Amino acid sequence: MKRARITGTGSYVPVKTLTNADLEKTLDTTEEWIQTRTGIRERRIAAEGELTSDLATKAAERALEMAGVAAEEIDYLVVGTITGDYPWPATACVVQKNLKAMNAAAFDVSAACSGFVYALDAAVKQLEVGSAKKALVIGAEVLSRHIDWEDRNTCVLFGDGAGAVVLEAQDGENGILSSHLHADGSYLELLYQPGFSTRYPASEEGLRDRLQYLKMQGNEVFKVAVRCLTEVALEALEANGLEAKDVDLFIPHQANRRILEATAKRVGFNEDQVFINVDRYGNTSGATIPIALDEANRAGRVKEGDLLLFDAFGGGFTWGAVLLRW
Ligand code: ACO
Repeated sequence: MKRARITGTGSYVPVKTLTNADLEKTLDTTEEWIQTRTGIRERRIAAEGELTSDLATKAAERALEMAGVAAEEIDYLVVGTITGDYPWPATACVVQKNLKAMNAAAFDVSAACSGFVYALDAAVKQLEVGSAKKALVIGAEVLSRHIDWEDRNTCVLFGDGAGAVVLEAQDGENGILSSHLHADGSYLELLYQPGFSTRYPASEEGLRDRLQYLKMQGNEVFKVAVRCLTEVALEALEANGLEAKDVDLFIPHQANRRILEATAKRVGFNEDQVFINVDRYGNTSGATIPIALDEANRAGRVKEGDLLLFDAFGGGFTWGAVLLRW
């Protein structure tokens, strides 16, 4: 069986930075509250007219360049997103058109903050069985247009951005070792965007009730997130006969610093093993892991043979871990 190996990474975040001090001017909040409760200092916000597909395309171009792969060589293109350009068709189709990746199957995965690991798993399986040879997997979000900027409980947490990886089917021991995905739809209303779609079609009443924006019960999400992130990370290690100390770099979903530090501690990682950039970008949902991976890779923190663990949790609830040998 071939292994799916990441041969290129790329990321892109919008130019505009929104700091906690900026939020303090428009919201009943303080820099200090946001910093201590979330570890977030600033986040990036897409410019007017800048789309999820624009961020995704730029991240993908960088990943393709690093891999030395031409867009037309890609035969499988998946975007993990919950903030696509349109309800349908898939943002992956827009990205395919932008890149001129005309030989690729293209579709989106909707798994909220777990979107990238779910999308990665789908592509990996295609490469392993030989149905595809070169895949592009992207996590991309413009959450800033789906959050209520008058709701201090949620708006301080999120940001916009995109990250991408090129995967190639190769012989050898290095590559994705295993992935472990879970979901529990009974938690749906703890974190979701009610409108507008078939459940709540667009209406005056819906706009008045602000159904077009993300809703969250933060306290409850926090508890379940830490439990699930911990359990699935341990599941991935155990399935491969490994322990926390064997992992060179743990890249958790960057939801907020308290969630990821609590998870890392429970799994048994020390500070040096954990990659954190939530302070600069906030929670970019499906984009956090590929952005973090690209930053770590370009900073030289990932070397051939290193063991990496991705760990994600998001709306649905969905969660999952991916273990790989670089
Ligand atoms: N500024 C000032 N005060 C605030 C703010 C704010 N931005 N937001 C909430 N508060 C207030 C609340 O109104 C509340 O006030 P009250 O006691 O007068 O009612 C008080 O702060 C405490 O609120 P809590 O919700 O109990 O605060 P908590 O310590 O739980 O922190 C937080 C809130 C940061 C949202 C936390 O629950 C959390 O991190 N939850 C996880 C949510 C998350 O990360 N979701 C992302 C999607 S899921 C994922 O990616 C894993």
